[in-house]
Amino acid sequence: MTTDLLQKQTFSVAASTDFMMPGTVRFGVNSFLSLGDELEKLGVTKVAVISDKGLEKVGLVDRAVEVVHANGKPSTTFTEIAGEPTFDLLAESIGHVKAEGCDAIVGIGGGSALDVAKATAAALLDKDDLSSYFSGEKTVLQRTVSCILLPTTSGTGAEVTKNAIFEDTENEVKRGLVSASFLPDVAIIDPALTLSCPSRVTAASGVDAFTHAIESYVAVNATPITKMYAEKAMRLFAPNIASAVHNGKDLEGRIGMSWVSVLAGVSLANAGVGAVHALAYPLGGKYHIEHGVANALLMPFVFEVTGETRMSEMVNVASFLQLGDYSNNPHEALEAVVSYLYQLLGKLNLPTSLSELGISKEDLPDLAHQASKIDRLLSNTPYKLSEEMILSIYLNAYKGVKQRD
Ligand SMILES: NC(=O)c1ccc[n+]([C@@H]2O[C@H](COP(=O)([O-])OP(=O)(O)OC[C@H]3O[C@@H](n4cnc5c(N)ncnc54)[C@H](O)[C@@H]3O)[C@@H](O)[C@H]2O)c1
Repeated sequence: MTTDLLQKQTFSVAASTDFMMPGTVRFGVNSFLSLGDELEKLGVTKVAVISDKGLEKVGLVDRAVEVVHANGKPSTTFTEIAGEPTFDLLAESIGHVKAEGCDAIVGIGGGSALDVAKATAAALLDKDDLSSYFSGEKTVLQRTVSCILLPTTSGTGAEVTKNAIFEDTENEVKRGLVSASFLPDVAIIDPALTLSCPSRVTAASGVDAFTHAIESYVAVNATPITKMYAEKAMRLFAPNIASAVHNGKDLEGRIGMSWVSVLAGVSLANAGVGAVHALAYPLGGKYHIEHGVANALLMPFVFEVTGETRMSEMVNVASFLQLGDYSNNPHEALEAVVSYLYQLLGKLNLPTSLSELGISKEDLPDLAHQASKIDRLLSNTPYKLSEEMILSIYLNAYKGVKQRD
């Protein structure tokens, strides 16, 4: 039961708010096969398939190229992505697609490949000097080539978001670019494409999707529409995550997690995320910890602090996760949610402390300093976190011990 009595909640007083999604969001097992028809409808002449090495290895790139060729379209591939992408790699992708004269991008992969694909599609226009776009100083306002995105993880929701995240290797930080032109013409979510996703990636990206849902649910910029998507994502998470991770060939679990990912992605795209992501970014930039792993680990430690300001939502989240009815004990709801999220790490074989990830304790003050500067995310968090508080969260996560233990 959700706690309507406790639902009286403040929404942002912003004068107006937009709600954006890709032109078409198609969901279905084997919907992947409709890729050719969509390219036909868009009237494109040459396609660049952007993906990564891992997906090339499992044959998903070849399958995408086959579907493109079956519709008589010539194509080129860019599969240089190995790991989470850097701005240098994005520049390489843009150069490749420009030289090949493509007028359509098909991105197939996890968040890494999709971010390169969407940013390549958006940045192809007239950008000789890409640095001002990479720095975020200028925003790409319009996309001139067609773009179709197919996720193979569940997931970042990158196929429905306006964000693309890259590593700035020079400064050892990850930075998110945000532009409506990153939304594709069509997002095709085919759960069958996730069947080959390895267990660790399934766990990390699955909990990442939950992070998107819970952070956007409590975000300063949340709206009743985004909360609806976030709620549904959280309700579908608990019954499906274990099956997707431990029994990856079971299509039902994969379908469930694909819904979690896309619903959470829509909520993230429109309400934004917060402090968990802000604290995760420096871990990616300096230590190259995978995005999903960093978010999954930090989430319980961040929420045990920030959750205090969103008690009614924590009661609801406990209910969405089927942890019980805490309407009369909001503090216990927060405790139950934090414990669930922390225990989940072990159940999904994910790291349970920053020390386990090889992070040096001496680096924590510097990481806290970097995180404290990510205003785009911290200002969307319903709790004002000082640099000192961020450091104390990192210290708890380093030890892997919750404050109340
Ligand atoms: N744009 C957004 O809104 C957004 C949101 C969250 C995260 N991100 C970004 O997404 C990236 C993380 O993405 P991710 O967690 O999806 O992982 P990923 O794209 O980095 O992929 C991880 C690994 O899994 C492999 N893989 C993916 N799908 C597979 C499949 N079906 N079969 C076999 N192997 C498969 C890949 O080849 C890769 O080796 C990070 O760079 C993060 O910053 C973007």
